[in-house]
Amino acid sequence: MTGSALLPRSSGDVARREFARDVLAGLAGQCKAIPSKYLYDEHGSALFERICETPEYYVTRVETGILRDCAPEVAASAGPSCSVIEFGSGAATKTEILLDALATPSAYVCVDVCVEQLAASRARLAKRFPALPITAIAADYMRLEESSLPVFPGGRLGFFPGSTIGNLTPDEVQRFLATTRRVLGHGGMLLIGVDTVKDEAVLNAAYNDAAGVTAAFTINLLRRMNRELDGSFDPDRFRHVAFYNAELQRIEIFVESLIDQVVRVAGRAFTLRAGERIRTEYSYKYRPEQFVATAATVGYAAVGSWMDADELFCVHLLAGV
Ligand code: TRP
Repeated sequence: MTGSALLPRSSGDVARREFARDVLAGLAGQCKAIPSKYLYDEHGSALFERICETPEYYVTRVETGILRDCAPEVAASAGPSCSVIEFGSGAATKTEILLDALATPSAYVCVDVCVEQLAASRARLAKRFPALPITAIAADYMRLEESSLPVFPGGRLGFFPGSTIGNLTPDEVQRFLATTRRVLGHGGMLLIGVDTVKDEAVLNAAYNDAAGVTAAFTINLLRRMNRELDGSFDPDRFRHVAFYNAELQRIEIFVESLIDQVVRVAGRAFTLRAGERIRTEYSYKYRPEQFVATAATVGYAAVGSWMDADELFCVHLLAGV
């Protein structure tokens, strides 16, 4: 049986109105910010895949190695016939490791805001696992409800790799963990990749690769606003800025205005001073025990936590208690 469906959660018009509303709200305040999910249009998603291949961005490489090592233990804990639900699946390159380790997974469900990537990942995995029912859901994983997920036999194993959890604020982390606990249901588990606190030079390099791929990724948001929201951003009048804030344990990423300027977007004009920044992303880092303690506040217990030898990254398997 091959099931494969692309379930759109919102039409193009609705999506554009939301984008306009979020951008206008984000630029109106004293501290300008745009929600990071808008970085991932088709071009942004492709650039992000290239970030994952830069020598400085250790996350993808190290997490993939950890997943290879821990997959048999994860499969033993989750049961061989569970369904896998991936939140923010992107190119879904690590999914195969998990699906290979599970003897007879009942289904794979991928959830992402980038429709093009969803379609490509679904097609690739359908070829690789011809007997596996696959459902692709075009949605913001923060807005999933249990009713949006199809029902398959066996328990549910949530998959949230890539330290995407780091891109959520502490409030959003609570909401995400509480939502997944509900959505994954009784006996549900969550396999989650979390970046660790480490040497600042390593962190700063990871978000400022020498080839400039990360900078292009950040600046692409301006191009997207020009295209979809009739914006007037001149990419040459901005630069990418990213640095580690040790006190708050997070990388902060911005586009910075190089000059005093007025920009128009979604029918409004905004003044930017030279040096003024628009935040596009946070990437929080956690000590493993810190993250386990946070998960415990919403009723998750760690069944296992795995790190590489250099402690650059940590993968946790959480279960509802
Ligand atoms: N989840 C990734 C991370 O926090 C996202 C990411 C990597 C990212 N590099 C980036 C986001 C650069 C914005 C800009 O590591």
